Amino acid sequence: MLALLLFAALAQAAAISDHSFEAQCLSFRPEASVLNSTRTQLQFVAAGTNLTFPDNDPTCNRNSQVVGTDLCRIALSIPTSNRSSITLELWLPETWTGRTLATGNGGIDGCIKYEDIAYGSTNGFATVGTNNGHNGTYGDAFYQNDDVVTDFAWRSLHTSVDVSKKLTAEFYGSSLGRSYYIGCSLGGRQGIKAAEMFPEDFDGIVAGAPAVDFNNLYSWRASFFPITGASSDYNFISASTWNTTIHNEVLNQCDAIDGVKDGIIEDPTACRFEPGALLCQSNSSTNCLSSTQVEIVNKVYSDYLWPNGTLIFPRMQPGSEIQAATGLYAGRRWALSYDWFRFAVLENPDWDAATYTTKDAFIADEKNPGTIRTWPSSLSPFEEAGGKILSFHGLQDQQITSFNSKRFYEHLSTAMDYTPAQMDNFYRYFRVPGMSHCNSGPGAWVLGQGGNAASKGIPFDAEHNVLAAVVDWVERGTAPDVMLGTKFVNDDVDQGVAYTHRHCRWPLTSTYQGGDLDPHQADSWQCL
Ligand SMILES: *[C@@H]1O[C@H](CO)[C@@H](O)[C@H](O)[C@H]1NC(C)=O
Ligand SMILES: *[C@@H]1O[C@H](CO)[C@@H](O)[C@H](O)[C@H]1NC(C)=O
Ligand SMILES: *[C@@H]1O[C@H](CO)[C@@H](O)[C@H](O)[C@H]1NC(C)=O
Ligand SMILES: *[C@@H]1O[C@H](CO)[C@@H](O)[C@H](O)[C@H]1NC(C)=O
Ligand SMILES: *[C@@H]1O[C@H](CO)[C@@H](O)[C@H](O)[C@H]1NC(C)=O
Ligand SMILES: *[C@@H]1O[C@H](CO)[C@@H](O)[C@H](O)[C@H]1NC(C)=O
Ligand SMILES: *[C@@H]1O[C@H](CO)[C@@H](O)[C@H](O)[C@H]1NC(C)=O
Repeated sequence: MLALLLFAALAQAAAISDHSFEAQCLSFRPEASVLNSTRTQLQFVAAGTNLTFPDNDPTCNRNSQVVGTDLCRIALSIPTSNRSSITLELWLPETWTGRTLATGNGGIDGCIKYEDIAYGSTNGFATVGTNNGHNGTYGDAFYQNDDVVTDFAWRSLHTSVDVSKKLTAEFYGSSLGRSYYIGCSLGGRQGIKAAEMFPEDFDGIVAGAPAVDFNNLYSWRASFFPITGASSDYNFISASTWNTTIHNEVLNQCDAIDGVKDGIIEDPTACRFEPGALLCQSNSSTNCLSSTQVEIVNKVYSDYLWPNGTLIFPRMQPGSEIQAATGLYAGRRWALSYDWFRFAVLENPDWDAATYTTKDAFIADEKNPGTIRTWPSSLSPFEEAGGKILSFHGLQDQQITSFNSKRFYEHLSTAMDYTPAQMDNFYRYFRVPGMSHCNSGPGAWVLGQGGNAASKGIPFDAEHNVLAAVVDWVERGTAPDVMLGTKFVNDDVDQGVAYTHRHCRWPLTSTYQGGDLDPHQADSWQCL
């Protein structure tokens, strides 16, 4: 009887506390604390709810999001100038660890990553995301509006950090724990830019496949259309030729360098692909390339240079052909670089992407819209504030060559005059063989790098998960030496783990221990 009463009392207490969180949420007035802001959402959301976003720009392709924990959802619109504004979502979980997390964007968008906000809040972070100053995946909002460009380059994220830290402390009536960031691609760049401009914004940053040296990256991307020609051209290389003839020859030349023929090039820096091996021997040969096509492939895999021979952007890493075939090599203007150039750089909506040359690259480099470049020569203020950056890059990335992350590491360590051991104190870069742009691919690519479904399949710990790893680094001083990536069967968590693989931090290389060891056993490889 007593036990029953006790149980009833506990159940009632739980009900009251649930109720009081909901009431606390609904009585919160975030707009009162943020100058000139407009509240567009304030709702208690129960765990398991499938939220829908009917007003969200359809190009963002994010109509709904399942929420993993009870939380208070706040959305605000905040002016950043008299001709620009941001839309911000702040999700405050009832089960809060004291930590805050900001999330990044991608491409040239304009899209709140609801999946990352859900991921952060489910793991106990008060998590914020913004539309980065405009809605949708297109760049027309940049046209003749430097304020929208500035929001995109850095101001939207910084504003969201200021606002969300203030609101989070007010909401919970408590001082804040450590502050984190997670983003990939453009989002990786946003993290590095924040470390450079606002060294106090974050204690820990996860910067995946960072789009650093942004102007030159976009010039490199724009350069492929003039190289490949249009898909109707006589010598245009079809996706199926990239997929089979060229990809197979890349593997033929480079897959075994690491000692294991598994379709994954463990260290593409060691691969100097020679497409001349595919030159047709006679007019009736098949599965081969004409001499013009050999030249095209050579250019695709060469460093991209200014006319004076200095580097604009490093070469595409071999191994990424299959994904790149339908993207950068598709023989049409590439939407992101097209919009970036015509609206933000050249301010000419009628610009023809087929006419792109290094003259356009020069204009982009000189103009540096919104100071977006992101190529710091020092991150000392961030390091001195105790900040930590965990970066990673897929070595089959078809949208940003991973050689740029190596180049950035070398640039930073040279400019700061740091040895790898000194870099290790605050900046660690993990190479992920067999991973495409930010996720997917044949390798062990699941690392907790965001809210895609696969992150649910791995433990939230420093061994498996990059966000948990940076938390441990910041809060306990235990730095990640290796990250254990997971491959699920058919990339489906429900089908179980196919294998795991240790990803090494630069400059170490994942090295097969030889003989007849099973390459799908993590212990068969060492970081040397
Ligand atoms: C807030 O709005 C007022 C009135 O429109 C304006 O004068 C002021 O500059 C705005 N402040 C900010 C920070 O946007
Ligand atoms: C959530 O709702 C959307 C729109 O109604 C639907 O398309 C989606 O499948 C739902 N997601 C889940 C996991 O039920
Ligand atoms: C972006 O879309 C949101 C609705 O999701 C809307 O409230 C906001 O005004 C839009 N912002 C701009 C700059 O169009
Ligand atoms: C907007 O602000 C700028 C200065 O930041 C000012 O030059 C401009 O006149 C303002 N425009 C309007 C319409 O108020
Ligand atoms: C190339 O391979 C990709 C991935 O396997 C596939 O989606 C695409 O349809 C293929 N394209 C051609 C033309 O074979
Ligand atoms: C091969 O094709 C080229 C160009 O179409 C032609 O000039 C040449 O005569 C052909 N050679 C043979 C052996 O048929
Ligand atoms: C080469 O040209 C680029 C672009 O004009 C310029 O930034 C760079 O300084 C030049 N390098 C040398 C060594 O002249």
